[in-house]
Parts: sequence; structure tokens; C-alpha cells
Amino acid sequence: MPAIVIVGAQWGDEGKGKATDLLGSSVDYVVKFNGGNNAGHTVVVDDQTYALHLLPSGILTPGVVPVIGNGVVVDLDVLFEEIDGLETRGVDTSRLVISANAHLIAPYNRVLDKVTERFLGSRRIGTTGRGIGPTYADKMNRIGIRVQDLFDEKILQQKVEGALELKNQVLAKIYNRRAVEVDEILDGLLAHADRVRPMVADTALLLDAALTRGDVVLLEAGQATLLDVDHGTYPFVTSSSATAGGACTGSGIPPNRIDRVVAILKAYTTRVGEGPFPTELHDDAGELLRKTGHEYGTTTGRPRRCGWFDAVIARYAARVNGVTDFVLTKLDVLTGLEKVPVCVAYDVDGVRHAEMPMTQTEFHHATPVFEELPGWWEDISLCRRLKDLPANAQSYVRTVEEMAGAPVSVVGVGPGRDACVVLRDLA
Ligand code: GDP
Ligand code: IMO
Ligand code: MG
Repeated sequence: MPAIVIVGAQWGDEGKGKATDLLGSSVDYVVKFNGGNNAGHTVVVDDQTYALHLLPSGILTPGVVPVIGNGVVVDLDVLFEEIDGLETRGVDTSRLVISANAHLIAPYNRVLDKVTERFLGSRRIGTTGRGIGPTYADKMNRIGIRVQDLFDEKILQQKVEGALELKNQVLAKIYNRRAVEVDEILDGLLAHADRVRPMVADTALLLDAALTRGDVVLLEAGQATLLDVDHGTYPFVTSSSATAGGACTGSGIPPNRIDRVVAILKAYTTRVGEGPFPTELHDDAGELLRKTGHEYGTTTGRPRRCGWFDAVIARYAARVNGVTDFVLTKLDVLTGLEKVPVCVAYDVDGVRHAEMPMTQTEFHHATPVFEELPGWWEDISLCRRLKDLPANAQSYVRTVEEMAGAPVSVVGVGPGRDACVVLRDLA
């Protein structure tokens, strides 16, 4: 029975939270499988706006079981802050389940994230400063602390001592920072142990049973294809697997149980932080997209870099994720433009590339080859069927679909839960 994966097609903030929320009533489980509180999902339900970071967006739908999978990195302080914030607003969070194998973001990794960025200077990544990179590095380095370690104090102490032996050398000798006491870390982590214990489970086993029963499981990515540590614009990426493959490793659901891969694709492009961005606009048009699309980060408040739609990226996302459906979001933001440029290929030092170039150097040299599509003036925010859209908006959707190489099943025409045109049901 169905497992559906939702991923971001570009550099994040495509509207994954809204898409997950939209599917909420048709699914039984929503699993976050990668990343941590570097994510920022804004979901608008009726007149209420929710900003989610660590919790899966499915938390807003009554009856859905939200799951934090093994591939996620968990900051316990943020977890309970977010839970308490939602509970205060009347959202029931009691069904939340957390994988015993998920890694914990320790305070020293938050510090290391920030000092490393400062140290890198002009080579910085522009991280969210939440400790994501150092925590995944510890996981790979086999010195990470996991959720289950909270329930064995002896093991926890050994692991924290082991980690700090190394970390304190780095903090003190390289970054000239204060060394961290083992007890300080232990106290901070153990303070949450009793509260987190009832939420913890073998989530891979739980999801296997759910799928066998015929329940619908939605696997929700944080970040996006071009921020994926393997398939993104390395080193200007996050430190986890944000593509469809990560849904399997980050949840314990095998590939042959995934039925559908839905990629969320913004009708233009944005990026937060450093790194190459071929269609980026540094002029009034970029400012217009930022203003009209409210392109300011949900997590850090940073203005998002804005540019035109990039079909090379969309095609790449379709390929590396095995996309079965695109959700094209924020089409309403393009309303009012006489012509809408879309990038159909790159020129790299005089050579035309229709596919993502192989090397970082080539991608840095890529200049977009644009085609201009005719714009539309009519307000589309109340359109609910494809034929309600102005002819030029319909043809924008069809052109994107053709260029990207997978069908567009939903078109977003506003931030609200209902503000979309559904061409084909996703679940
Ligand atoms: P995520 O990180 O992929 O979940 O996306 P974010 O929540 O960071 O950013 C997407 C923003 O666009 C949010 O503020 C959404 O409310 C908003 N949004 C989503 N879909 C649409 C749409 O179709 N039109 C408009 N105008 N806003 C949208
Ligand atoms: P959602 O889920 C946009 C970016 C950061 C930085 C890089 C590495 O809302 O789409 P990190 O803190 O992860 O080590 O930072 O990745 N980044 C995001 N950009 N949306 C996100 O999440 C992001 N999560 C991380 O800006 O460039
Ligand atoms: Mg976001």
C-alpha cells in the first residue's frame, strides 16, 4: 500500500509544508526523514499561520500520526518549545512518535556550526547555525548521541565524554572558545529524558506494520534536491540526504514500497545562504519576486535570493528523485508580468548544456539561456480548475511540465490550504 515521498525540487522553500498539509486528510502517517530545525515550513490554515521547523507538517492534521524518522537530527530544546507553542494554540501533538535512532543536536554542535562559519569567512556556507552539519558529521564519525542514549545514563556519559575529548580540543585550541563540561551536557540532555520517553519507538517497525495494514504513509523531506549532500551544489548544501533516496534510509521504508514521488517546484527560483545560482536576479525584477512572494526565510528571516524558473534544475530534480508528480507553487506571484523569462539551458564557457553540468566549476560558470513566455494580468488566486486560469498561465504550466519531464498535478495559486488547482489527486 502507498508510501508517498514529498521532496523539494530546487533550493528549498518551495512550499513543501503546504503540500504536506494539503495531503494531510488523505494520509495516516507523516514522516520527516532528514534535516532538523534548519527547515522552516509555513502552513496557513484558515486565518492561522504556523511556522514549523522540527515537527513534521502533518502535525496540523487531526488524526495523522507525525513521525520523526531516524534520519532526522533532533534538538530537544527546540522540540519541546515547538510542541508547547502548538499546544498553546490548541494543536494536539500527543500522537508524535520519535525514532530511537535519531541523533541529538548537542549544544557544542550549535557552537561549532557558528564558529566554523565565522572561521570560513568568505568561504562560508551561510548555514542556519542550528548545529546541523556538525551533528551529521558526528553521526558519520560514529561519535554521535542518539535519542535512545537518553535511557541509559552510563552509555550516555561514556558517549558525551568521548565526544567532548575531541570537541573540547577543537573548541579551545582552534576556535579559542571555552571547553565544555561533561556534566553540563548530560544535565541538559537528561532534563528532557522523562518527557521524551513515551514518544520514542522503533519507527521503522511501526511504519512497516502501518504499510502492511494498508495505511498511507507520507514521507516529507526538509530542504531540497540542490541542498542534498550528494546530489546538490556541494559544498553549498545541507548535510543530509534530502532527495527521494533519503526517504528510505531516513525512515527504514525500503525502495520497493515507495509508490509515488511528488516534487514541489516553485514557479520561479529562490535560495538562502551562499552558493551558485545561475538565474539569480540582482535587479528590480528580483526585488519584485521577493516582495510579491514574501521571500524571507521562515527560520532565519534572511531575505531569499530570487531568480527566474530554471528548467535545467527541474529536469535534474525529476531525474534524481524519480518524480511522478510536480506541484507547481506560487504561480500567483508571477501575475502581472508582461513576459516571463524561463531558463531552458546553460551556456558554460560557450558550450550549451541542457543537463546539469558535471563539475562545480562549470556550474559556477553557467549563464542562463532564457526563453520568454507571455505573461498574464488576471488575479488567479481564486482559480480552482485549470480552465479557470488565463490561457497564458495555463501555457506556463504546460511548458514547465514539458521542460521538466514529469506531469504537474497541482498548481499553487496562494498560501492558503485551499488555494490550489488540482489536476490529478496525489493520494
Ligand atoms: P517549505 O520550506 O518548502 O515548506 O516552504 P516555506 O514554507 O519555507 O516557503 C513557502 C512559502 O510560500 C510559505 O510562506 C507558504 O505559505 C507560501 N506558499 C506556498 N504555496 C504558495 C502558493 O501557491 N502561492 C503563494 N503566494 N504562496 C504560497
Ligand atoms: P526548508 O525545509 C532553504 C540552507 C542554508 C545553507 C545550507 C546549509 O525550509 O526548505 P544548514 O544549516 O542546513 O547546515 O545550512 O542550507 N538551508 C535551507 N535553505 N530552506 C531550507 O529548509 C534550508 N535548510 C538549510 O541556508 O545555505
Ligand atoms: Mg522553508
